[in-house]
Amino acid sequence: MTRAVCPGSFDPVTHGHLDVIERTARIVDAVVVAVGTNISKNALFRPDERVEMLAEECAQWSNVEVTLFEGLLVDFCAANDIDIISKGLRAADLGYELQMAQMNRQLTGVDTLFLPTAPQWAFVSSSLVREVATLGGDVTSFLPGRIAARTMERVASRHTGATSDM
Ligand code: PNS
Repeated sequence: MTRAVCPGSFDPVTHGHLDVIERTARIVDAVVVAVGTNISKNALFRPDERVEMLAEECAQWSNVEVTLFEGLLVDFCAANDIDIISKGLRAADLGYELQMAQMNRQLTGVDTLFLPTAPQWAFVSSSLVREVATLGGDVTSFLPGRIAARTMERVASRHTGATSDM
């Protein structure tokens, strides 16, 4: 049984992420979507919120589960019987992604499977979505409906200072 991890920050999860998760789930037996717990000061959602949102979106695939992870990804892989790290690859990220894949392989032998990002999502990243949303742009076409609604809600509450979200 081949198990793969799709790791990331997912802040927030985009159509591009879900495309890679779905394609991975068709290739391997089981997929663990692992949400990194490193909190950046620009984060829109807490790690537990990202897990909750991803779990909702991934419920449509029976062989996909979602969890938090902290520490080294290779240690998470070893502890969870993960054979493969699966990642979407955009041209702009090639250098850094290759470096991480080679480092991870050197550390424990775990290999990385790169799936070319679907062309329609190639320009989409969570960081750009956060920036566009924060500055009042429309991000609805890059995100599943529920995620777009929560993203706009979060951005609006930050602007009004209505809630403390982090
Ligand atoms: O969505 P992101 O921000 O590109 O995800 C990056 C992530 C979480 C996959 C990456 O930073 C990671 O693997 N972090 C875990 C720490 C680690 O293993 N670092 C060494 C990488 S070679």
